[in-house]
Amino acid sequence: MSKLDTPSGAHRCPGPSTRDIILSDKDEVPEHLVEESYSYLGDADIPFERYTSNDFFQQEIDNMWLKTWQWACREEEVSQTGDYVVYDIVGKSVIVLRTESGDIKAFANACLHRGTQLKPSESCGRSKNLRCPFHGFTWSLDGNLEDVPCRWDFPHVETKQFSLPQLRVECWNGFVFINFNPDAAPLSDQLGVLPEHFKNWDLSGKFTSMYIRKKLPANWKACLEAFLESYHVLETHPQGITTVGDANTQYDIYGDFVSRFVHLVGYPSPHLESQPDQQMILDALFAEAVVEGAQSEGHDLKVGPGESARKVFADHLKKNLGEAYDRDFSRLSVSETIDAIEYCLFPNTCFFPSLLFPMVYRFRPDGCDPDKTIFDLLYLQPLPDSGKVPDSAEPFELDEQQSFHEIPGFDPGLATIYDQDTGNLLSQQRGFKASLKPGETLGNYQEIRIRQLHQTLDKYLTGEVS
Ligand code: FES
Ligand SMILES: [Fe+2]
Repeated sequence: MSKLDTPSGAHRCPGPSTRDIILSDKDEVPEHLVEESYSYLGDADIPFERYTSNDFFQQEIDNMWLKTWQWACREEEVSQTGDYVVYDIVGKSVIVLRTESGDIKAFANACLHRGTQLKPSESCGRSKNLRCPFHGFTWSLDGNLEDVPCRWDFPHVETKQFSLPQLRVECWNGFVFINFNPDAAPLSDQLGVLPEHFKNWDLSGKFTSMYIRKKLPANWKACLEAFLESYHVLETHPQGITTVGDANTQYDIYGDFVSRFVHLVGYPSPHLESQPDQQMILDALFAEAVVEGAQSEGHDLKVGPGESARKVFADHLKKNLGEAYDRDFSRLSVSETIDAIEYCLFPNTCFFPSLLFPMVYRFRPDGCDPDKTIFDLLYLQPLPDSGKVPDSAEPFELDEQQSFHEIPGFDPGLATIYDQDTGNLLSQQRGFKASLKPGETLGNYQEIRIRQLHQTLDKYLTGEVS
């Protein structure tokens, strides 16, 4: 078949595929990691107004945000009786808490007397009950009415009828999800392949070592989409192309709700005019290493005959991080150790299971402004085998103008990468509004996850999914 006859979506970057390269590591990888699951989903332009229109945003609220499962907090944030986290989304506010019986419950954060929020937006803490700060109506952690000051004045309030309204709650892999829709299908329908793929990637047995919350000046979808493809790496992060196979990245689609990329590390960009040798790649990996324990000042490791930089780097990382975390990582494959493997769960969360990239992302609208987003970035590190549980980090907040370099202890190389990623967003949001062309034109392969996001969103908007 000639190139021109190749069906849409079937073109790939020339050269070895991600699958070929992972197989050449010659170690034991989960089967799904070397299986491709791309689907061609059409090539129509995506209208810019989906990122800018107040009407469209309101449709998203009514038909998607109030209908879909969404990650509200980590289970360890509500590990003890009375621990609570307030999760705010599209003008709503929800208290997620641990009850005395050990369940996790979610309540609308509003007093049944005159509406006051029972806990401040985005707050967290430990409480023995839910007491309204205005007049003192009080509910138990189970949501039962416990106290009404001047009870004599409310003979019409039936204690049993005055429980706090609850939202649906389900947990997966250490994450607490909520759903405003009482009739929603179970979370498992939305998770799709995730439980199977994450069978050996336990994110529940981890703790949050770093938590960054940054305001971003663009629509939530544009912010998420900036992290769904590696196509931008050459132009936006040119400093890193010796060590990342950007155009080799594999993109997978799993139904409506889950997508994945597998972005190779320790393999040079196909864009490079002359390909570096394996020792040069290893040296560059050490120069760029961005995770605690990965660095090795003036390392003296050599790539031996028949070895790859990927393998030498992964072995070093497993040993160093194993010592740092008091864990045995020897069973991990090269890919599970160093590649950027990113799963996106509709609508707004990304999970990274590999050792070198232990991040989780969430992109949610900031209030009801289609131009503003809150980006939550967590680092989940393994709990030590010794069983001593470190304290989880609380959010370090950055405004739109602030740089990731301002975060104490954050790796400077990584800070530059996040500044580069988020630095494009304001001009993109402005460009959406300035454009005389009505929509964006996506690459069929590298930007397929963006198209899937929009198509699934449309299924909510049309009522096909609810
Ligand atoms: S508004 Fe809550 S007790 Fe009055
Ligand atoms: Fe990026």
